[in-house]
Amino acid sequence: MTQRAKSSGRMQALEFRKRLLTWYDAHARDLPWRKDHDPYRVWVSEIMLQQTRVAAVIEHYHEFLRRFPTVKKLAAAREASVLAAWSGLGYYRRARMLHAAAKVVAGERGAKFPETAEGWRSLPGIGRYTAAAIASIAGGEPVAVVDGNVERVLQRILGERMSGEEFWLTAETLLDRHRPGDFNQAMMELGATVCTPRTPACLTCPVLELCRTRGEMAGGDRAKRQNKREIDYALHCRDGKVFLVQRPKEARLMAGMWELPQIDLPTLGERQVRRSARSDGHHIDSPILTLRHSITVTDYTVRVWDRATPEGDAGKWVSYGKLSKMPLTGLARKVLRKARLGAPKA
Ligand code: ADE
Repeated sequence: MTQRAKSSGRMQALEFRKRLLTWYDAHARDLPWRKDHDPYRVWVSEIMLQQTRVAAVIEHYHEFLRRFPTVKKLAAAREASVLAAWSGLGYYRRARMLHAAAKVVAGERGAKFPETAEGWRSLPGIGRYTAAAIASIAGGEPVAVVDGNVERVLQRILGERMSGEEFWLTAETLLDRHRPGDFNQAMMELGATVCTPRTPACLTCPVLELCRTRGEMAGGDRAKRQNKREIDYALHCRDGKVFLVQRPKEARLMAGMWELPQIDLPTLGERQVRRSARSDGHHIDSPILTLRHSITVTDYTVRVWDRATPEGDAGKWVSYGKLSKMPLTGLARKVLRKARLGAPKA
């Protein structure tokens, strides 16, 4: 690269930072974890924000911090309480790792948080992105973050397809080293609110004049194909209690959490054959609730059936008042809420 090209690149980078941060100062969403730079709060928010939309995180963030206001309180909590507070956010491995890391900080580290991205990375559940996000936002360390939003913004601004390490190097050269936390959040914010995957709002983009593609690279990121499945659960209620079962400890998803017992019903086609074979029309039941629920790449149609007696005895009766303290799966919580059994928001 010639000297002239390099210095024009530097000028562009300066202009890019200035415009992006001016826009961020005026337009940043007022998110609760942006109010202070407390490492514990920033850490909790960044773990929640992995794979979860901002709106869903906000709902859970306050309640989680009310229950576990400090890293010591979190470290001292039982895993079941941590999972209960996480219920509804999904990807429960994050909660287990956060709990494990809190024990390391509160125990081995005498409640002192790491001061660098490298230090954060040594804790359970904290990878390169999360370490850089916390260290830059809470500690002001000049390290760039790269997530899916940042990748898209970088590729569009520079008009180049990139991969792996190239993203990190490019983000690092653009980073504003005086305000790294704000710069990183501004890049993510731009990707989430303006430079969106399918229909970017280029006309409101603060760096439109510096962008090589201006919307040309839109539309490439198609929504992933979802699988479809049907699933049936039994709802047994008796004397103000509901019958729940625990998922196996070795389950790949939501291990050890509680849910309604799943039941195997004949398929819809088989049910119709049986129905037409009956003459009395008696006891042809229908679900008391039908709802939709998505877990990762699968969209479920969930049916809930009113049943008197549980099959088998693996499970327990839980009084309605205790449901909020149970580590329920997100789906179980949703069903119980819809059935008005008082399982409040986690
Ligand atoms: N995504 C993950 N962390 C974020 C943050 N701090 N601001 C905006 N988007 C984010």
